[in-house]
Amino acid sequence: MIEIRNLVKSFGPQKPVLRGVNLVIRTGESVVIIGRSGCGKSVMLKLITALMPPDSGQVLIDGEDLVTLQEQDVYRVRQKFGVLFQSAALFDSMTVYENIALGLWEHTTKSEEEISRIVAEKLALVDLPGTENLKPAELSGGMKKRVGLARAIAMSPEYVLYDEPTTGLDPINADVINNLIIRLNERLKVTTIVVTHDMTSAYKIADRIVMLHRGVIIFDGTPDQVRNTTDEVVRQFIEGRAEGPIKQTAVVAANPDPGIIRHPVPKRVKLRSKVMPE
Ligand SMILES: Nc1ncnc2c1ncn2[C@@H]1O[C@H](COP(=O)(O)OP(=O)(O)OP(=O)(O)O)[C@@H](O)[C@H]1O
Ligand SMILES: [Mg+2]
Repeated sequence: MIEIRNLVKSFGPQKPVLRGVNLVIRTGESVVIIGRSGCGKSVMLKLITALMPPDSGQVLIDGEDLVTLQEQDVYRVRQKFGVLFQSAALFDSMTVYENIALGLWEHTTKSEEEISRIVAEKLALVDLPGTENLKPAELSGGMKKRVGLARAIAMSPEYVLYDEPTTGLDPINADVINNLIIRLNERLKVTTIVVTHDMTSAYKIADRIVMLHRGVIIFDGTPDQVRNTTDEVVRQFIEGRAEGPIKQTAVVAANPDPGIIRHPVPKRVKLRSKVMPE
């Protein structure tokens, strides 16, 4: 279970992003976080996975507060998460196999045979069997997302977090991703957190939809409760109307960094990938 308590994060005094977020995500649930561009959805995912520290508040993962844990414990807790970043964030110079095997090389002592079996299994789960030797440049946007997803689940996480998994995909590919998210949630029994502004996707995936607005959660309910809400702010968002209580002036500037986390390819991985089986 994830418990977020009074989470506050700002980027300088002029830029409050989260102003006291409270949210409980129960084990096995599928929770979708909606909200306008720049409202802090990606920041929230980064705080949940301890990629960024909050100014104040707590993030309890199965009772352990990420904010106060020692570094090695944060590292251990982080292994519970698999993340599909807003851009699939694959390493272009590496094959599909290498992209998925990366975490297993880095964080486990599994043999190459075992890793190769795991990669094949995860690729089958995202309906991309046999694509190990392709490079990201050879993949369509939807396929990249699926490889990103195979990588996110490579270490058998308990929590899978998705940042805008369907953005930029055509409606059919978007639905393929929606079905995969549901399948993984059910088959792997993971807890799912999805950030999106795609309401078709939100309605389909969610057990619960929460809306982040002006730094706080202003709505928390089932898809049916969202559809039938009389809350004018939520209605304006789900109906995609320019007119309503959400004014342009209240909107935080569009996010210049779409949540891509760039890290250099670790040296050991480069070396080890050279001795990979064909
Ligand atoms: N590292 C950072 N330094 C400074 N400001 C940041 C940083 N990361 C995010 N922000 C700001 O925090 C706000 C929220 O960003 P965030 O990426 O969480 O938005 P979002 O809700 O995910 O938007 P989108 O739907 O466009 O992805 C934005 O105004 C963004 O510019
Ligand atoms: Mg974002």
